Formats: sequence, C-alpha cells, structure tokens
Amino acid sequence: MQVLTTIRETRAVLDKVRAGGRTVGLVPTMGYLHEGHRSLMDRSVAERDVSLVTIFVNPLQFGANEDLATYPRDFDRDAAMCEAAGVEVLLHPSVEEMYPFGTPTLTSVSVSEVSAAMEGASRPTHFAGVATVVAKLFNIAGPCHAYFGEKDWQQLAVIRRMAADLSFPVEVVGCPTVREPDGLAMSSRNAYLTADERAAAPVVHWALVAGAADIAAGERDPAKVRALVADLIAAEPLAELDYVEVVGADTLQELDPLEGKLRLLAAVRFGRARLIDNEGATAAAPT
Ligand code: PAJ
Repeated sequence: MQVLTTIRETRAVLDKVRAGGRTVGLVPTMGYLHEGHRSLMDRSVAERDVSLVTIFVNPLQFGANEDLATYPRDFDRDAAMCEAAGVEVLLHPSVEEMYPFGTPTLTSVSVSEVSAAMEGASRPTHFAGVATVVAKLFNIAGPCHAYFGEKDWQQLAVIRRMAADLSFPVEVVGCPTVREPDGLAMSSRNAYLTADERAAAPVVHWALVAGAADIAAGERDPAKVRALVADLIAAEPLAELDYVEVVGADTLQELDPLEGKLRLLAAVRFGRARLIDNEGATAAAPT
C-alpha cells in the first residue's frame, strides 16, 4: 500500500492507473476507522482495480463549537486496517495541503433543499463543508465509483445530488449501515461514550425500528410516528433528543400523510457524544 500526503503524488499514481485502463474506487473518511468504514473498503476493493482511501479530518465541516480539536485519531491503526483490506493507496493530507489558502475557502459547494433540515438545521455550515471536500476529493482522485455509508443518510443524499447537479463522472455507491451486536450504529464518535452512555445508546436504533414498524402497521401520520420515536428515546435518562424526522427516502422532504419509500432519521446526544442514525420504512398504498 502506498501512503501519500500530497495531491500531486496522488494524481500521478492514479493517472498511471487510469492510463493502464484500470478503474479507481474512492472511499473518503475522517479516520478512526471501524467495521463500517471497513465495509466500504471491502466493497471498493472487490469491485474496482485500485482503491484509494482518504483520511482527512475536514475542518470545513465542523462548526465553531464542535469537536474538531478532539475528533479521535489513530493513523497507525487506520493504516493497518486499510492495508489488511487490500487498499492500494492511502491519502492522508495535511489541512494546508487541502486548503492552501486557508479556511473558509472562497469557493464552496452548497446543495440547497436536501441540506436544509435535520443535520443542516442543527449544523448550518456542515454540508457545504462536506460537499466542498468531497468535490475536491473527486477532482483529486478521479474515481469512477465512490463509496459512502447509509449511516449518514442525509450526507449520502447531498453527495448524490451534488454529483448529479455538477455532472461529476462518478457513480455514488451507498452501503448499508454496520452495527454493533446490540444495534448501535458504528461511529468514530462512539469513542466519546462513557460505559453507561454506551449501554444506553442502542435506544436510538430500536426507537427508529419501532417507528418503522408503526408505519408498516399502517400509521400514516408523521407527527404520531415522530412522537412514538421521541417517547422511546425520552424514556432513556441519558439520552437528549436533538431531532427525529420522517421524510421521503430520496427527497428528504416531509410528507403528510406518509406515503411510499420513507426514512426515519434521528440525532441524539449522550453526554458529549452526538449520535445520528436512520432506518427505512415503506408506507404501502392501501389495498
Ligand atoms: P466518516 O464519518 O469518517 O465516515 C466515512 C464514511 O464511512 C462515510 O461514507 C460514512 O457514511 C461511512 N460510515 C460511517 N459509519 C458507518 C457505519 N456504521 N456503517 C456504514 N458506513 C459507515 O462521513 C465522513 O467521514 C465525512 O463527512 C466525509 C464523507 C469523509 C467528508 O469529510
């Protein structure tokens, strides 16, 4: 595995790959890798000739009061996981390499509407930071396919829309959420949880599953589904609900009554950890 730190070297290596008729898969990450990231790498390694993993804690996507300074990092362990997965190239650039003119950048990619609610409402500059860095990584790596997790459902929708609107020649591949055995979605931020918070955290998943079951059983009122999920989360004293929403799975727009392919999404704080998760549901037309 080649470990690179500059855009120039990365372009040189991947230009050769493409010139030889071989395909490039991109897996962007912020590091502190876990089995969720590993599932994206496994998919890219299985499907593409050469896989590039990027590890970059992107300052543009953190708000002023967020956890940029304390975001967990362990480059050596991450590199070992990439190597074990069969990843060919690992790019680990500095902030100066990615943003030589500093941050915020003068040029920024913002995806309206899809970015507006939920994570976008709670973290107003977040998705422009994500879209901007992912656009840069697409331009640096020139992948034919890029792999993202459904764990960050709204992020996936934002990136898909950016790629379509800006005609990036990249297919955005969504991969299922990988969970701990008790249902908690794997996340680098789970490292912030105390033992008690860790024991309580699966309530987010199970509350969303209960909401999805309510829809499957015929509930069509989004307020009732949201209340059911919120009550289950409120019953856990260590959990503090930020939001729960039920929206169209692809549009991310609210629907009342609920209809068609839906997604339930929630953000919940446990102490200093802010965790997000989501679950699919279908409101079948009445027969
Ligand atoms: P990060 O949180 O490190 O996640 C990198 C990728 O791993 C994202 O596509 C995310 O959805 C996926 N992922 C995280 N946990 C997962 C899980 N439990 N199951 C499946 N996939 C999972 O998301 C980011 O970084 C950044 O915003 C980034 C896209 C790299 C831009 O900076």
